[in-house]
Amino acid sequence: MIELKHVGKVYQARDERHRALDDVSLTIEDGDIFGIIGASGAGKSTLVRHINLLERPTEGRIIIDDKDVTDYQGKELRELRKNIGMIFQNFSLFQQRTVLQNVTFPLEIRGHAKAENIERAHKLLQLVGLDEMWKRYPSELSGGQQQRVAIARALANNPRYMLCDEATSALDSRTTIQVLDLLKRVNRELGVTMVVITHSLDVAQQICNRIAVIDGGVIVEEGLTQDVFANPQSDVTRELLARGKAEPQSTLDMEKEA
Ligand SMILES: Nc1ncnc2c1ncn2[C@@H]1O[C@H](COP(=O)(O)OP(=O)(O)OP(=O)(O)O)[C@@H](O)[C@H]1O
Ligand SMILES: [Mg+2]
Repeated sequence: MIELKHVGKVYQARDERHRALDDVSLTIEDGDIFGIIGASGAGKSTLVRHINLLERPTEGRIIIDDKDVTDYQGKELRELRKNIGMIFQNFSLFQQRTVLQNVTFPLEIRGHAKAENIERAHKLLQLVGLDEMWKRYPSELSGGQQQRVAIARALANNPRYMLCDEATSALDSRTTIQVLDLLKRVNRELGVTMVVITHSLDVAQQICNRIAVIDGGVIVEEGLTQDVFANPQSDVTRELLARGKAEPQSTLDMEKEA
């Protein structure tokens, strides 16, 4: 279980102060596919980056599996991060490494025996349906295939949690469905709890059992996905639903809208 308790974040850059999160409290239960939706600049990435402590809160606490991890450093922090995989919009694969070497990378840092790493990487590539491409380089794969490699890499350390920041925003609609199906399977079959940032209400509706709506760093609404869609409680949510999506972000979306 992931709990954020009264989390606030203020960015201070020279003479500028920006409040990115304001009194955010959330509980993400084991087994959830939990959606975070909101417009560009609402604070979605900032919120999720607090879960693996890529950002530290200005106020409030982060509790994971009943442990207060807010001040974790060093070994404790490394152990925590092993338990939390992360994938991004731009896939973030190592371009100089093959598909297989991308997936073994998190295991190499951990110092497992090499043969064992390779065996595990092949298993994960089978899971995402790409083992026959293990020798290729990222540039030789489609966007959807690259994201599947990124998912395999995120699973290398057998995490209980996975954070997905606009994981399908750069993909066309058919590829998006394939990647969402894979994430659902990872959730169901491996029991990985997911936090999914998306500006796409379609994506939220397709895979999330719960969603939170964030606006200006404040959670304005939270609940079961079908309830929020059927009976939105906040103006911000009603506006998002009326527009059909939070905001076009990828060029693909913009092309679709043009
Ligand atoms: N390192 C930083 N320093 C200063 N301000 C920041 C920093 N990171 C984010 N911000 C600001 O915090 C706010 C929230 O940013 P965040 O990246 O969380 O938005 P987002 O909801 O993920 O947006 P998008 O959908 O465009 O990715 C923005 O106004 C942004 O400019
Ligand atoms: Mg973001």
